Amino acid sequence: MKLLIINGPNLNMLGIREPQIYGKEDYRALCAFINAAAEEVGAACEIFQSNHEGAIVDKIQESLGHFDGIVINPAAYTHTSVAIADALAAVALPTVEVHLSDINEREAFRRHSFVAPIAKKTFMGKGFEGYRLAIRFLAQAQS
Ligand code: DQA
Repeated sequence: MKLLIINGPNLNMLGIREPQIYGKEDYRALCAFINAAAEEVGAACEIFQSNHEGAIVDKIQESLGHFDGIVINPAAYTHTSVAIADALAAVALPTVEVHLSDINEREAFRRHSFVAPIAKKTFMGKGFEGYRLAIRFLAQAQS
């Protein structure tokens, strides 16, 4: 099983960025966590991070035929991007949405997710652990 993990804008700033919300661990630590979680279920994974909407759309389109599932934290694009939601719907790979923070418990503008209707499941408010739950969910769905 091969999973594509996509992280959207500003997630590369983890550790520096609002640590009271996103934690003190940096993006490298998140990548190490994700790789370990994939290994636990015997999945291969590629991790992609971009601050650019079009680059994320391109990556989703290119995933077709190369991956069995997508874990995506679209970050701020969660709340704005019809293009990312459309790309996920187009490739129709099993997709799980992850947010480090609980977007329902923050500002009102974060409560709407364009990706949620396309995702098989959303994990939020569990920090890094949300990625592990997402990877496990996809691994179980495949077996
Ligand atoms: C986020 C939540 C989004 O609202 C925010 O814009 C992010 C990160 C999260 O992981 O909690 O950049 O997706």
